Amino acid sequence: MAAIVIRGAQVYHNGRFQALEVRADGPHISAVAPKVDASGARVIDAGGLHLFPGVIDVQVHFREPGNTHKEDLETATRACAKGGVTSFLEMPNTSPPATNQAGVDIKLALAAKKSRVNYGFFVGATNTNLRELQEVKRVCGIKVFMGASTGDLLVDDMDALERIFAETGKRRVIALHCEDEAYLKAHKPEYAHRTDMRGYTEWRNVEAAYLATTRAVNLARKYGHRAHILHVSSARECELFIPRDTLVTAETSPHHLLLNVDDYARLGTLAKMNPPLKYREDNAGLWRALRDGRIGVIATDHAPHTLEEKRRDIWKAPAGIPAVENSLALILDASSRGMCTLEQVAQWMCENPAKTYAMKGKGRIEVGHDADLTLVDANAVHTVRNEEQLTKVKWSPWHGQKLKGRAVTTIVRGQVVYENGQVQDQVRGTEIQYA
Ligand code: DOR
Repeated sequence: MAAIVIRGAQVYHNGRFQALEVRADGPHISAVAPKVDASGARVIDAGGLHLFPGVIDVQVHFREPGNTHKEDLETATRACAKGGVTSFLEMPNTSPPATNQAGVDIKLALAAKKSRVNYGFFVGATNTNLRELQEVKRVCGIKVFMGASTGDLLVDDMDALERIFAETGKRRVIALHCEDEAYLKAHKPEYAHRTDMRGYTEWRNVEAAYLATTRAVNLARKYGHRAHILHVSSARECELFIPRDTLVTAETSPHHLLLNVDDYARLGTLAKMNPPLKYREDNAGLWRALRDGRIGVIATDHAPHTLEEKRRDIWKAPAGIPAVENSLALILDASSRGMCTLEQVAQWMCENPAKTYAMKGKGRIEVGHDADLTLVDANAVHTVRNEEQLTKVKWSPWHGQKLKGRAVTTIVRGQVVYENGQVQDQVRGTEIQYA
């Protein structure tokens, strides 16, 4: 593998963008300095560009094994490469679900063969698999669905949930989908006659999310157990978080930041996901929580379903949208509109995801760290087009939208995996390691 030198970019280093050069020898960064030795290296002239640590998407559903008509590890990770995503953590609600070591090992083996970027996998919790959760290795964390969503993973027995907090290693991250199943079940009949997506949000509402998030946060504090609250969708839940807390961390998604119930008129069931879109004031509250550090991470919850599946009625259409190849561009575009700085984009999408899951050698541009790097043109304008999407389902809720800012070159452990609009298909990522 040839050495690489990136020259001329503003480089995110020690919390700010600076005029620096970066050299990678093999999979690791070997120099970060105003001027580095370029001998024997391929030099990438990055004048006018920003060099980010590779984007780490810590919540995706890539559908393999079991639902490869929607996505597979090849199509998904080609989309990652295009979107500037150099590492992902994948959820366990595949088919069969990954609820034990054997299930996780199957995915690790598939990813080793197919993944163009670095990979990690969650183990899924059920009401009855505490022993497996205690023993499983080579996972980034335990995923708990507190409300039912795609697939049949669910922990709705509150004693089982408490035992997961009480009896698994305290440093292992429990990542929670927070919607209260009992609340959802009790209230569903009131909405069964509704045919509009607003009815779906009124059912799976802020209260349902708040109840579950409160329970999760309280359990984490009671047992001193690491917990990460996934795809926070409402301003009210953010009241439960402490800025820059390291015990209970939180994440939101591009769609919860950028879309709300007003978008249903345009998108209908295409914009169905769990937790559902909320209201304009929730978009604003989530941005506030990111800026003051109560939420530290943006991840996509990339959850592809075919257009045919998505066009069913509000109850039959599956929940979820693809996003992995547009997420960085969407947040860069928000940044260009003054919603945040480029430094904050790097913190929320690169640095903090690595910290949240205690990933070794990830999330920073530093000597000795992995050479996972994303070169960004913050001024490039492009229009999202369904027909150009690399995700297998070939659609995006942002179709037709003009965005300012995008990844132009993606590097995975010292290998260029995306440049000049092309994915380099010979590149493979490696398994993420955790401290
Ligand atoms: O909208 C969603 N889709 N939310 C989830 O929790 C699961 C995901 C999926 O896997 O389809």
